[in-house]
Amino acid sequence: MLFFLAACLHCFITPSALGQSVKTVNIKNSKKISADLFGLFFEDINYAADGGLYAEQVQNRSFEYSPADNRQWHSLSFWEYITPGFSYGNLNVATNAPVHANNPHYAVLNIEHIGSVPENTGGRQPLPASITTGRPGVGIKNSGFANMVSKKGEQYNFSMFAKLLSATPVDMYVSLQDTRGKVLTENKLTVNKNEWSKYNASLMVTENCDSTQIVLLAVSEGKLALDLISVFPENTFKKRQNGLRTDLAQLLADMKPAFIRFPGGCLSHGDGVGNMYRWKNTIGPLEERVEQKNLWGYHQTAGLGYYEYFQFCEDIGAKPLPVLPAAVSCQNSGGTWRIGGTGQRALPLDEMQDYIQEVLDLIEWANGAVTTTWGAKRAAAGHAAPFNLQYIGIGNEDKITPEFEQRFKMIFEAVKAKHPEITIIGTSGPFHSGEDYDKGWKVANDLKVPVVDEHYYVQPDWLIKNQYRYDNYKRDAGKVYLGEYASWGNRLENAVAEALYMTGLERNGDVVSMASYAPLFAKNNFTQWKTDMIFFDNSGYYLTPNYYAQKCFRPTGAIIMLIK
Ligand code: AHR
Repeated sequence: MLFFLAACLHCFITPSALGQSVKTVNIKNSKKISADLFGLFFEDINYAADGGLYAEQVQNRSFEYSPADNRQWHSLSFWEYITPGFSYGNLNVATNAPVHANNPHYAVLNIEHIGSVPENTGGRQPLPASITTGRPGVGIKNSGFANMVSKKGEQYNFSMFAKLLSATPVDMYVSLQDTRGKVLTENKLTVNKNEWSKYNASLMVTENCDSTQIVLLAVSEGKLALDLISVFPENTFKKRQNGLRTDLAQLLADMKPAFIRFPGGCLSHGDGVGNMYRWKNTIGPLEERVEQKNLWGYHQTAGLGYYEYFQFCEDIGAKPLPVLPAAVSCQNSGGTWRIGGTGQRALPLDEMQDYIQEVLDLIEWANGAVTTTWGAKRAAAGHAAPFNLQYIGIGNEDKITPEFEQRFKMIFEAVKAKHPEITIIGTSGPFHSGEDYDKGWKVANDLKVPVVDEHYYVQPDWLIKNQYRYDNYKRDAGKVYLGEYASWGNRLENAVAEALYMTGLERNGDVVSMASYAPLFAKNNFTQWKTDMIFFDNSGYYLTPNYYAQKCFRPTGAIIMLIK
């Protein structure tokens, strides 16, 4: 109860809770709370990106799902082949002439015969409505991430890449339907080009439906190649194309985070070096982005890529904090957490110069003039002004091996030499203490890394017992970014312990410069990590006590905190 009162009082009496800024006054024994103290940790875990914040409604839109994502999955997962009206044909997956080499799989729909829907004769055994209603044709349907949600009065933008493989053009209906086949909205288009082309149709919905599917039905005979089949609400956050779900994005905006860390978490360093999150794979036209497995057991389309992350940060006034791999993979790669986390693999040293250049290119892409190679790419994507990147994380709670240390040092020194204006954040393992913590801090302090990322998930009483942890930290070493922390659980006692602990972060503003609770999002029934800040489904969200505790501590700013 005492702690609950402490947290409540914090909410009610601090200027931060009131959104006010108080002028600094010279009080002995006072400290300034770090202006960037409280931000958000975003990782594509628990379907936070695809199927979550990213507003795309179609699942497996590019036919790139594979057993590497999930052993049961393949190129046609989440697609259903349909032949209403006794029509027939076939559906295959091809790779020989894709829309782009980065996006190799596509569907081939062969429409051999369009049948007819019989009338119900009213005989002794009437035919079911599924046979006597609707339109004959050959097609495919997709119900998204456990059904799509369509809203009355909202427009949905359908698009696809298609190529005509037969001599005669193919007519198609594109519709949103409920699971019983009732058409909510439809539009017609004709695929008539023999090279890959983008086809669009807008779909206006006049009633709410939380079990919507997209149906593509060819109604004339022929053969088609199809790829990147997309349904996006017109109404994304700030109306951005390829944008974010308005409700979830607004929720984050309302938290007024000082920064957003992305794309992880373990997602950053990946399940083996081939799965490391490479930022260049996630920018540019969607059909050119490189999709890959998500180490949390599903798939990353990279539709929510670096451009979208940076744009979102700008849209809500948060500083972007990209975390790049330190050229080593997660130590738990290949599921080796079961045998002591022996799965870390490193990029070969002869690839390090290219990798370092990739890190430097990110800074040029984010901040460079439009006349630079990478600044020009940013401008071509629609953002001529710099994104004002200030922080960059190198590594994510890596095992501090000689391979890590060697590569971290190479990257750190190259970035520091070329971009002294960027604050580099190092890493100190996955726990609050222990071998990687000690070694990580030693590496960081030897190199004079300005900020070090700490991670710990603990019981609430650990937070209470350790509330003075940072009072005793050295003041002349690197500063702390508490990049991932939470107490195990979403009960009130967890939130109160976290709130208490956060007062210790504020009190130590001279050593704790940033902090972010983790993980941020979890989709109901799609979770891989139990304690999360915000739960959501396709229609809405559920806020935890932990969320309210976090919200009490925002915004940060020029606040004086008495320590004695
Ligand atoms: O936040 C969930 C996971 O916890 C992160 O991906 C990882 O960095 C940590 O172990």
